[in-house]
Amino acid sequence: MSSYDVIVIGSGPGGYVAAIRCAQLGLKTACVEGRETLGGTCLNVGCIPSKALLHASHMLHEAEHNFAEMGLKGKSPSVDWKQMLSYKQSTIDTNTKGIEFLFKKNKIDWLKGWGSVPEAGKVKVGDEVHEAKNIIIATGSEPASLPGVEVDEKVVVTSTGALELGKVPKKMVVIGAGVIGLELGSVYARLGSEVTVVEFLDAITPGMDPEVQKVFQRMLKKQGLKFVMGAAVQKTEATKTKAKVHYKLRKDDSEHVLDADVVLVATGRKPVHDGLGLDALGVELTKRGQIAVDKNWQTAAKGIYAIGDVIEGPMLAHKAEDEGMAVAEVIAGKHGHVNYGVIPGVIYTHPEVANVGETEATLKEAGRAYKVGKFSFMGNARAKAVFAGDGFVKILADKETDRILGAHIIGPGAGDLIHEVCVAMEFGASAQDLAMTCHAHPTYSEAVREAALACGDGAIHM
Ligand code: FAD
Ligand code: NAI
Repeated sequence: MSSYDVIVIGSGPGGYVAAIRCAQLGLKTACVEGRETLGGTCLNVGCIPSKALLHASHMLHEAEHNFAEMGLKGKSPSVDWKQMLSYKQSTIDTNTKGIEFLFKKNKIDWLKGWGSVPEAGKVKVGDEVHEAKNIIIATGSEPASLPGVEVDEKVVVTSTGALELGKVPKKMVVIGAGVIGLELGSVYARLGSEVTVVEFLDAITPGMDPEVQKVFQRMLKKQGLKFVMGAAVQKTEATKTKAKVHYKLRKDDSEHVLDADVVLVATGRKPVHDGLGLDALGVELTKRGQIAVDKNWQTAAKGIYAIGDVIEGPMLAHKAEDEGMAVAEVIAGKHGHVNYGVIPGVIYTHPEVANVGETEATLKEAGRAYKVGKFSFMGNARAKAVFAGDGFVKILADKETDRILGAHIIGPGAGDLIHEVCVAMEFGASAQDLAMTCHAHPTYSEAVREAALACGDGAIHM
């Protein structure tokens, strides 16, 4: 039996970051992981592989659609799917091995296997029981199931199966127009699949700024994705090579069927904590089945903490990482902090979509007076030069104080641009502070400055 100051269960972005920070703060640390490789959902079957496929398929799209106009002529590339998958795998491998290296560097023990907590202060992995003064649960999430839909990860797949299909399907039906459905739907549409997205609600990406939703859906349609909105999927029927998706339109209850070679089920994810033995320890759950924690990420059981997708909040890698660092600080007797009001969200389609902070809907609901500064990428020279003039930056600021309350961006580099606003919000900046900051020309970030200017006396290039 080994004894540790901290044992982390799960090595995703929450768990591995918590483990590294604990070790850096002088705590003897181990991390339990049951997968063959470290890095969790994000590195193995989530953020990283999906971004590799998004990148490769975007390159193809550029070659097919924009090269000729720039005077780059010749045969456009064809898809070698096996090679694309091996590129994706090598991206995963370098990242997961990178975490292994960081564990060694920080003298963190990787306890290989599935962990459970037989009693307070003890973690069981296989036949071994280890002692831990503190336990951090970072066991993440898995795809939620849908009644009537049986996943075989070959024909009816979750995101995990969609990242390693045997071939590019002719017809793909995506259930759910959320982040996974639109990112992976984009990948296959670019690679030549006929992609139809079936969404329960009347707008894509629920909760997002309605103007962004509209422009985003229009752009995706232009890229060939089809949408069936307001449709409740009833069931799927699958053979070894084909499937049928049965849905009812909510407006008139009419029944319809779509044929597909592959069905991607992307209707959300749920926390993973079965088998850890938490019930017996008095750990409580929220109504939505997440592990309930206090402001220090401690569960109802003293010395047992939880972070990441397994607790409340957006299921995002960077939110899990921030909690990982913060909980380590708390355990080391320092002050851990996460600003939940400033957690950006990014969709890595083309163009990218990014948001942070309040939406107009949440501000209206709170009865808060606000102003809107909006700037279209059509007024941005750099964007126009690279065929990316569609889209806009919208900044929301307090009507009285001018303090920035949120931002919504659809356009080139949105996922990076949003961080300028995040930093401004962390520092409590006003829209004018942003507008008075010199921005290099020609950059996409000028559009952010112009949106900030539009909160005051007006943008220059609009
Ligand atoms: P996870 O990453 O889920 O890691 C949990 C780990 O715990 C797993 O490795 C699991 O094997 C292990 N585990 C579970 N139970 C046990 C046990 N009993 N014993 C030992 N080990 C255990 N987020 C973003 O921010 N950006 C993105 O671009 C993005 N893209 C995504 C794309 C896809 C297709 C998917 C599915 C998700 C994506 N996400 C993205 C979400 C992101 O992956 C998660 O928010 C993030 O991984 C959560 O981190 P975590 O540490 O809480 O859990
Ligand atoms: P999601 O919650 O983003 O979207 C699910 C969609 O499915 C919603 O639009 C919902 O209305 C719809 N839906 C639900 N039931 C349905 C039904 N029966 N029929 C039709 N539509 C239905 O969930 P998703 O896309 O599965 O992603 C899960 C999590 O992974 C997200 O919380 C996200 O944060 C994370 N993620 C983040 C990424 C990023 O940051 N770029 C990328 C991929 C995933």
